[in-house]
Amino acid sequence: MTNQEENQRSRQDFNTFADEYAQFRKIDPPVLEDLLVRGNINAESVVLEVGCGTGNYLTEISARTHAACYGLDPAEKMLSQARANLRANGIQWLMGYARHLDFPDEMFDLVYTVDVSHHIQHRLTYFQEAMRVLKPGGKVCTVTDSEWIISHREPLATYFPETIAVNLARYPTTHELLEETAAAGFVNIVEKMAEYPYMLYDPAGYRNKAYSSLHLIDEAAWRRGLARLEADLQNGPLLCHSYYLMIWGEKAA
Ligand SMILES: C[S@@+](CC[C@H](N)C(=O)[O-])C[C@H]1O[C@@H](n2cnc3c(N)ncnc32)[C@H](O)[C@@H]1O
Repeated sequence: MTNQEENQRSRQDFNTFADEYAQFRKIDPPVLEDLLVRGNINAESVVLEVGCGTGNYLTEISARTHAACYGLDPAEKMLSQARANLRANGIQWLMGYARHLDFPDEMFDLVYTVDVSHHIQHRLTYFQEAMRVLKPGGKVCTVTDSEWIISHREPLATYFPETIAVNLARYPTTHELLEETAAAGFVNIVEKMAEYPYMLYDPAGYRNKAYSSLHLIDEAAWRRGLARLEADLQNGPLLCHSYYLMIWGEKAA
């Protein structure tokens, strides 16, 4: 795939999803907590989110810590949604791709992605760029789905089981991500799983396909899953579990 093809693909897809993402995607509290604590973010920190989308995580990090925050995304409509959020005042929202981080060397304390690694065509280049723009001692974090998570996430995997094969095919494996993080020169690499039990009251995010794999299964499978989810929610809220794999690496001091 050429750079131009990659640009066109990402822009088309994610500009189309921007309204649904702004309305339905929420931060995962344990992921946010780990970014803040393990990332050691405070008012002196400089933070970059690559593939920031509508800016859920970065807005919260900025509000909680007053760190200097930069959000990068190739989809202009995602960035417009982020800019429209008054809580996000002061954050720099910039258009760009993971493979070229247009920032000076050693600028950031934390560079992270959430739900983006499977969209990056040149992942090793991204990790090398992250290494370049991090200060010595700075950290990189990749928040994504492992193979186990893809098969167990509720209600996505349980109500829309067709997403499992789709996601296993498009996500990098945990092993690949660990290898690429190490190949870029990061040290002290650790992986952890963030788990978040929550009650689901409303199927609107699934009805509006606010999760990209719902666009990749056939229409009949999506309708079947949605009908089952809506029927079960008639009997009351559902206890669900969100899981994320977090892979941390550090630039040697
Ligand atoms: C699933 S969304 C995640 C958004 C945000 N991180 C969140 O968790 O809400 C994926 C985002 O990655 C962006 N993206 C796609 N390809 C990219 C690339 N090559 N480099 C950087 N971002 C990319 C999309 O535009 C989209 O906003």
